[in-house]
Amino acid sequence: DPLGLDMKYVTVRVDRGGCILGIVRFALPLSRVQPEIRSIYRIVLFGAVAAVIIALIVAYFVSRSITLPIRQMQETAQQIAKGDFGKRVRIKSRDELGELAKSFNTMADELQHQMENLRRMDRMRTDFVANVSHELKTPLTLIRGYIETLEDRAMDDKKAATKFISIIKEHADRLANIVNDLLSLSELELSDDSVHKTEFDLKEIIDEISLGFGHALADKKQMLTVSSQGGDLTIRADHDKIEQVFVNLIDNAVKYTKESGCIELSLVELDREVCVTVQDNGIGIPREHRERIFERFYRVDKARSRDLGGTGLGLSIAKHIVLAHNGKISIESEFNKGTKISVILPKE
Ligand SMILES: Nc1ncnc2c1ncn2[C@@H]1O[C@H](COP(=O)(O)OP(=O)(O)OP(=O)(O)O)[C@@H](O)[C@H]1O
Ligand SMILES: [Mg+2]
Repeated sequence: DPLGLDMKYVTVRVDRGGCILGIVRFALPLSRVQPEIRSIYRIVLFGAVAAVIIALIVAYFVSRSITLPIRQMQETAQQIAKGDFGKRVRIKSRDELGELAKSFNTMADELQHQMENLRRMDRMRTDFVANVSHELKTPLTLIRGYIETLEDRAMDDKKAATKFISIIKEHADRLANIVNDLLSLSELELSDDSVHKTEFDLKEIIDEISLGFGHALADKKQMLTVSSQGGDLTIRADHDKIEQVFVNLIDNAVKYTKESGCIELSLVELDREVCVTVQDNGIGIPREHRERIFERFYRVDKARSRDLGGTGLGLSIAKHIVLAHNGKISIESEFNKGTKISVILPKE
């Protein structure tokens, strides 16, 4: 521009029907346009900065919403690894993280459950070893004591010696019984094929066992009756083991029933099973003991049971045998009234 001003020129050609009508030319000093341009620049710049800041803030919160739960899960995992199995993550979102947290908690539940099982089994094992040792130690100590007395002086006294030797024999028999019971239990627990099935009449073996108890019953002036409502009482099962079940149950009924008591056995044919009940009118089992009565070495009254020659293995063995036959064993009892044990065995 001749005046030395920065100008903005705009030239527009005006056409009509192919011929040029004229040319329009505008001229504007730039000083009038520049503030407008600058203000547009400013708006664009401000917008860009604001967009970047907002993006950063959003990114921060999004990443926090991901890293926080992950960190929480990591911390919980570490606490669980250290043995605090009760810890859980508290994430309730409905997205993938929420799903992950849910799976994580399920895994922790399972882990805690398994851990409790392991601890319980370990405690049972320790108890078992302690019980076995104790049960074996008692007769051994007595045997040792009698042998020492014999050595000291009783040898010369023939009558005393005979008495001591018979006591020693009694305790040795007891030891042998305990060891046999323990072997039966471990055999039942260890092998799945410890059951050797043959076909036999359940009523027949129960009659035989009852005969075997003749002496014990006569000693206590007890009555034992066996009744059945006819029907087919043939089952396929392990003869010797089933015999052991009912020997144990009848032995208990005799032991834990006072003189002149009654013991009733009854057999009933069910659809595909046979149910045998052994009922006595003896001392009964208090409610608080009923749940644990099938545990190894569990006795209601340790002293009384031991005096009667009991170790607390009989019912546990019976239960194992019945379960190995896919049967059921249950107990009903009333303190000071009597006890009824029902055994259900499948015919096949
Ligand atoms: N018919 C019963 N009446 C009352 N108590 C019973 C009866 N049967 C079992 N019990 C109680 O249950 C406990 C466990 O019985 P279990 O047969 O397992 O052991 P035990 O008779 O003491 O010893 P074992 O059978 O090994 O010689 C017994 O000590 C007794 O207290
Ligand atoms: Mg018993």
